[in-house]
Amino acid sequence: MTDTATTTTSLNKFEKFKAEKDGLAVKGEIEKFAALGWEAMDETDRDHRLKWVGVFFRPVTPGKFMMRMRLPNGILTSSQMRALAGVVQRYGDDGNADITTRQNIQLRGIRIEDLPDIFNRFHAVGLTSVQSGMDNIRNITGDPVAGLDADELYDTREVVQQIQDMLTNKGEGNPEFTNLPRKFNIAIAGGRDNSVHAEINDLAFVPAFKEGTGEESSQSPIFGFNVLVGGFFSAKRCEAAIPLNAWVSPEDVVAVCRAVLEVYRDHGLRANRQKSRLMWLIDEWGLEKFRQEVENRLGKPLLPAAPKDEIDWEKRDHIGVYKQKQPGLNYVGLHIPVGRLYAEDMFEIARLAEVYGSGEIRFTVEQNIIIPNIPDSRLATFLTEPLLERFSIDPGLLTRSLVSCTGSQFCNFALIETKNRALGIIKALEAELILTANVRIHWTGCPNSCGQPQVADIGLMGTKVRKNGKAVEGVDIYMGGKVGKDAHLGACVIKGIPCEDLQPVLQNLLIEHFGAKPKQEALVTHWSIDHN
Ligand code: HEM
Ligand code: SF4
Repeated sequence: MTDTATTTTSLNKFEKFKAEKDGLAVKGEIEKFAALGWEAMDETDRDHRLKWVGVFFRPVTPGKFMMRMRLPNGILTSSQMRALAGVVQRYGDDGNADITTRQNIQLRGIRIEDLPDIFNRFHAVGLTSVQSGMDNIRNITGDPVAGLDADELYDTREVVQQIQDMLTNKGEGNPEFTNLPRKFNIAIAGGRDNSVHAEINDLAFVPAFKEGTGEESSQSPIFGFNVLVGGFFSAKRCEAAIPLNAWVSPEDVVAVCRAVLEVYRDHGLRANRQKSRLMWLIDEWGLEKFRQEVENRLGKPLLPAAPKDEIDWEKRDHIGVYKQKQPGLNYVGLHIPVGRLYAEDMFEIARLAEVYGSGEIRFTVEQNIIIPNIPDSRLATFLTEPLLERFSIDPGLLTRSLVSCTGSQFCNFALIETKNRALGIIKALEAELILTANVRIHWTGCPNSCGQPQVADIGLMGTKVRKNGKAVEGVDIYMGGKVGKDAHLGACVIKGIPCEDLQPVLQNLLIEHFGAKPKQEALVTHWSIDHN
């Protein structure tokens, strides 16, 4: 328990219910809940504690729950994809799934009476949804092309799995880490392009070489990671992660995760949930004291950070066909519009991964998929598959980088509809404009910022605005987010644009700041050249 939690007399309601009964306790009560039905369940169990097993009550669709999985490094097998598809299929038109910006998947339409069967199905294929919501550690992200990319510095797959196994007791649930002050994000970058957005995680590891010291000084540089801490977004405050001034070897990553999490669990601020993410503790203590406490938990000193990290590429999006480091094999990135999948898509993706690849499927933080291990000899046929007409390997330059949170279709916090609107506006803009480079547009339905508008070239945050005396759906516009090397967060530049007036505003921004040209003008120019 925390200093704050034990000494504060008026605990906030979340700390209270966690103290009364640990969230993970619901794991043993699933059969009981299934028999009771959602309406008769204890409200705190239903609305909150079920999130400890990845089951989310959704006030927008009462009785139809959302399930959030854990997919370490965003990797799954075709049989796991089929199991997920089978669960979603059960719910017909209401059943679908969203790939998330943590290389994860959320399933929709789940009924409480089906949970025992669903958990059995997951168990059979090695899937878990444990500790994926509320005050737990979210899906751990890793390099989406780990083990495939000839230019990678470190294959992140194993260490990401080890961290998940440690934190969740191999997916069975680990009470040591089920009562953090708040949610917690961990990312491990393995390449030069920071494809996990290290800077927006509470704890991130970025590749860095350390010169050999002392007796080792004649040796070549040693590979490891510089550690970043405290990155987070919230409605009130957004911070990029800051250097902990620590370099760790790959063998120490799991232990450092444990040490940081123990410090956060035992000392993180719990009185006010608006001020309980890790950065608030670092603010209160100062970085030096925080680093010292991490060392104490680790039981050995941390080495100072390497003077520079290896993040020196622009961020890749992995859409398209790429040679793997394994001769004769390719990975293909398919664009999934706003990450939305239906059961038949999921079955088809599983089939393609098996027929053409090794059965493996990966998710990216841009809500897209990668199918790896496709031999040269099978590539041409793969590219003729009908699914690729919808899930393109060469989408338009705005569509390509579009990201969106759930929005009002399923999320009760949403102030606006996001996914469908995002797709509609992008399509219209692509029809009107000639673009020379992709522009990363992120939509988020409310200030909670799950869609990360702060990392986008153009970020759109849902809000309510007044137009002709009426409250209508609108957005605040963010710009200047930079990912990859020299990543930094964007800021709000325009406030309160009604969504129905947004398209021309975006068109102007794209022309003025991103080199887009109106098609009409291009046609006129072309015409006049022909006639001169
Ligand atoms: C108080 C603040 C927040 C609240 C109340 C909140 C709430 C939610 C809810 C309700 C969902 C599920 C919606 C659905 O699909 O039905 C969600 C998903 C998600 N949120 Fe947030 N959110 C918050 C802050 C953030 C922030 C700051 C980020 C990161 C920038 C974030 C990242 C995500 C992601 C990635 C998902 C998809 C699930 C996953 O992969 O973990 N959220 N959030
Ligand atoms: S940003 Fe808001 S609307 Fe979008 S998923 Fe998060 S809480 Fe829901």
